[in-house]
Amino acid sequence: MSLDLARLRAETPGCAHGIHLNNAGASLMPAPVVEAVKGYLDLEARHGGHGAAEREAPCLARVYDSVARLIGAAPDEIALTESATRAWQMAFYALESRFTPDTRILVSRAEFGAGVAALRQVARRTGVRVAVIPCDGQGRTDPAALASMLGPDVRLIAVTAIPSNGGLVNPVAEIGRIARAHGIPYLLDACQMVGQRPVDVAAIGCDMLAATGRKFLRGPRGTGFLYLRRPLAEELEPAMLDHFGAPLTPDGYAPRTDARRFESYEHDRAARLGLGVAVDYALGLGLPAIAARCTELSRSLRAGIAALPGAQVHDLGPDPASLVTCTLAGWQAPRLRAALKEAGIAAGLSEAAAAPYDAAARGLPPLLRLSPHCYNDADEILATLDVLARLAASGRG
Ligand SMILES: Cc1ncc(COP(=O)(O)O)c(C=O)c1O
Repeated sequence: MSLDLARLRAETPGCAHGIHLNNAGASLMPAPVVEAVKGYLDLEARHGGHGAAEREAPCLARVYDSVARLIGAAPDEIALTESATRAWQMAFYALESRFTPDTRILVSRAEFGAGVAALRQVARRTGVRVAVIPCDGQGRTDPAALASMLGPDVRLIAVTAIPSNGGLVNPVAEIGRIARAHGIPYLLDACQMVGQRPVDVAAIGCDMLAATGRKFLRGPRGTGFLYLRRPLAEELEPAMLDHFGAPLTPDGYAPRTDARRFESYEHDRAARLGLGVAVDYALGLGLPAIAARCTELSRSLRAGIAALPGAQVHDLGPDPASLVTCTLAGWQAPRLRAALKEAGIAAGLSEAAAAPYDAAARGLPPLLRLSPHCYNDADEILATLDVLARLAASGRG
């Protein structure tokens, strides 16, 4: 089913304030999300934080159902977090106790900077070796290369589905089949995929998945979630616990048996409620329809940029997602981004830390990143191309 663009735009208050092409950074929230968050804050103002939480307990509980439905999981396999980074960290550091100096961790070249920092810290303190899985001719993590690297010393495969620095889409399900066949835990960073394309954890075959709320899902900042395949939630002990994740016993503690052992007592309930509404909103539109529109818009934007004099598009892979990255001769990416901002267009910037292994392998400079979402329209794409054409013609930034 195709989307009702007029309705989508009417329900996105930010559309009235410029052209927003930074959905991979932080999207524009739909009105129902904003209203849910504001409404909850009003409740807190009236009844205090605890009173509001008691009143809204059923709605807050339903957020787990929504997130589970979004990715084909069960509600008890979901832990809500404040970011994708925190979700990834909770899974990764829980695995650390399984690592020894002769352990290898295999990762995609697309890994995000936050994960690379954690990998380096754990490598330093445990002696594990981190190896980057080579890419195929189109820049995707190569499943055949992965299969050839496996051995009994591999204790984790960590892959980023869509990187922060471009439209590459990794073959996550092929990787999942290999991980499953060898019984190796598979941690997927789906931060840029969730909300943009359909995600089904059973089809992918991942054991753990980290995602954020504020990007293509269009939820509030400070939200994210971790999926943990059922037996793992009980097998993995979080690196940090509190009395919510692990209720106290007379002389010890008993971690919860569901994924919420990775949560802690205190969190922003207004934001979580907003996340649930954002997920329901995306499900209501339909992920296949959102994906089709994101692909259509990013395809025309990418083609238009590629045709500009001095422009270079840096996205990899045969079926790129809605993250269009480019450079323009004579322009540093931060200046280009600032020039777009002056023209009322919000764009993003991808620096080396967004995907350090990839930036080093390809020798990438900072990139301008444009990431349309389903509520953007064709006129906005044309207007952006006009501004870029003018900047390209001026030849200097
Ligand atoms: C691929 C990828 N992974 C992880 C993250 C981190 O997300 P968060 O800021 O919610 O921790 C980002 C954010 O840009 C990202 O693009």
